[in-house]
Amino acid sequence: MLLSVKNLSISFETDSGRFEAVRNLSFQLDKNQVLGVVGESGCGKSITNLALMGLLPKEAIVTADELVFDGLNLLELNEKKWSVIRGKKIGMIFQDPMSALNPCFTVRYQLEEAIRNNHLGIPSDQIYPMALDLLAMVGIPDPKSRMECYPYELSGGMAQRVMIAMAISGHPKLLIADEPTTALDVTIQLQILKLLKEIQQKNNMSIIFVSHDLNVISKISDKIQVMYAGEIIETGSKEKIIKDYRHPYTNGLLHSLPGHQLHSEKLYSIPGIVPDLKNRPSGCQFAPRCQSATNDCHQNEKIQITNDNGHQWRCINPLER
Ligand SMILES: Nc1ncnc2c1ncn2[C@@H]1O[C@H](COP(=O)(O)OP(=O)(O)OP(=O)(O)O)[C@@H](O)[C@H]1O
Ligand SMILES: [Mg+2]
Repeated sequence: MLLSVKNLSISFETDSGRFEAVRNLSFQLDKNQVLGVVGESGCGKSITNLALMGLLPKEAIVTADELVFDGLNLLELNEKKWSVIRGKKIGMIFQDPMSALNPCFTVRYQLEEAIRNNHLGIPSDQIYPMALDLLAMVGIPDPKSRMECYPYELSGGMAQRVMIAMAISGHPKLLIADEPTTALDVTIQLQILKLLKEIQQKNNMSIIFVSHDLNVISKISDKIQVMYAGEIIETGSKEKIIKDYRHPYTNGLLHSLPGHQLHSEKLYSIPGIVPDLKNRPSGCQFAPRCQSATNDCHQNEKIQITNDNGHQWRCINPLER
């Protein structure tokens, strides 16, 4: 097992009081496994990943029974120890490659700097060849001339490939990809997904892949975790979540995808909005939007998780199978 998270909670101290954005999150990730994380905006996908990178802002309060990555207790690391993990053992790519790259420096400058940071003490004559290899690995044609480009000279897809090259330059065991294809058009999206899968298999890497689009998630993931209001409400193998889902929220997410419309003339969307985390409803957090909700759903503060051979859901009235 590469990553073990038990009862992770993340709260924020704000002027109007403290609120819990992520609560009692537990999940595990194996070596070579791709975990897809899906959920609407504000469900806590990004802050969970920031906690795994030690990058949450100061006002965040993190508690957990266990947060162990590759045998290291992440809860006990100081900044110096984080710098050994970040970038090197855990790489990260974000939604908008153009804003993550520095517009003032060439691809070569930025990639070489990433290599230098991630391989301390590397002889300088090895850096450029390694940079060329990395660009070739992420499928950039004519890497020698692309190396001298500034970010504005690259397309969005090429820029994301450069970001991936930088993120894997330290041979991380885990790559966190937070909506890495959202800013790209559909054909480029597919190419990047394919590339990530190839690199993952070639390098024996694990990936946490975040998206609000279950379609995208299902193309790359082995395991899928559905988040709602800072909680995992359903998790299981890709097949279970896509074909055998039990939670009404997962059902809603799947039916709001284009091509999955219940009413062919109109795209379905889940009624209502994600609750205000500063003023959470009682009981199941999804109950106010759920068509199957009963009184118990609104009142029960301890909704048990049902576990069917690793396929888990937190729901009193799951869909029948
Ligand atoms: N620095 C902060 N201070 C206060 N609240 C914060 C802070 N950062 C995040 N939050 C809150 O934590 C919650 C989860 O945010 P997060 O960014 O993880 O959502 P997300 O699932 O990644 O959403 P999206 O799909 O829009 O990226 C949100 O309600 C957000 O407003
Ligand atoms: Mg996010």
